[in-house]
Amino acid sequence: MQESLAYTPAVAAATAGIYERLRDVIPDIEWPVHAPYVARINELKAERNAILLAHNYQTPEIYHGVADYTGDSLGLAQKATDTDADIIVLCGVHFMAETAKILNPDKTVLIPDLEAGCSLASSITGADVRAMKEKYPGVPVVSYVNTSADVKAETDVCCTSGNALKVVESLDSDRVIFLPDAYLGRYVAQQTDKEIILWEGSCEVHERFTADELREYRKATPDIQIIAHPECPPDVLDEADFVGSTSGMINYVDSQRPQRVVMITECSMSDNVAVEFPDVNFIRPCNLCPHMKRITLPKILHSLETLEYEVLVEREMAERAYGSVKRMLEIR
Ligand code: 13P
Ligand code: SF4
Repeated sequence: MQESLAYTPAVAAATAGIYERLRDVIPDIEWPVHAPYVARINELKAERNAILLAHNYQTPEIYHGVADYTGDSLGLAQKATDTDADIIVLCGVHFMAETAKILNPDKTVLIPDLEAGCSLASSITGADVRAMKEKYPGVPVVSYVNTSADVKAETDVCCTSGNALKVVESLDSDRVIFLPDAYLGRYVAQQTDKEIILWEGSCEVHERFTADELREYRKATPDIQIIAHPECPPDVLDEADFVGSTSGMINYVDSQRPQRVVMITECSMSDNVAVEFPDVNFIRPCNLCPHMKRITLPKILHSLETLEYEVLVEREMAERAYGSVKRMLEIR
């Protein structure tokens, strides 16, 4: 195996087109390390009829080198309903792979590292949701997809950062339980007349950004556009020119083509998007998601070679969770 992973002239030729696009974000000294994996993973995907879905926070060699589809949580869930592949390799965190499995009980869903978690998903359990429902009887529960299957199974309808307001507004109730991200919940609450009952979960990556930091960017570069993810604290969002999901941020850059932009979100986003928009100058603040960064090319290759690690969801729980994810996908 070691031999087949050498940076041979054949590997260099097979990956030259990919590297041409990545030149500005991956130093040429690093490419010989990535390229043999990129070449082998792309071969194995075809042999196994596998599709590789990658979240926007994956590193550029994954995002641009081996992914068949890239997107935000909503896009990944939608894509998972629309594939003929036998195997889905989810390059993202565990709740994303679980969502893909809930939507595709008959497919093999793999995650290259089972430890790729999420501070939001681990902030709440199904038992916590049941307790909330007892405290607020009859109040519908909206859960962010950044939750485990047992939480989704207790949920009326899921949402992502891309559709949270729309999902809340779709409910025929003046009060809504919104969990687990309190910052996203507060952001939604500002835009709806419904009373939002929150759970105090947060994203360990986005909660570290501060409004002062954003003001500093604006002072240093007055014409900068600041775009932020709604998992950030409220005072950070107040300083931003645009707030949106990770794909919403990409669409904003695409449609507005700002000269200078700062994306207040995970590190790899700016690298990935800069490849697509070489004329936009990205200021790159860096808050890494340690969970997303567990996914690497060697682990993806291992996953395709061994079919590890399969993500399984107990059948009854999966069926109940399916209802809440499906109801979200039906809201357009
Ligand atoms: P998006 O759905 O906006 O990609 O967000 C997912 C996530 O985990 C952000 O931290
Ligand atoms: Fe979870 Fe935050 Fe990482 Fe997204 S960035 S996966 S919300 S810990």
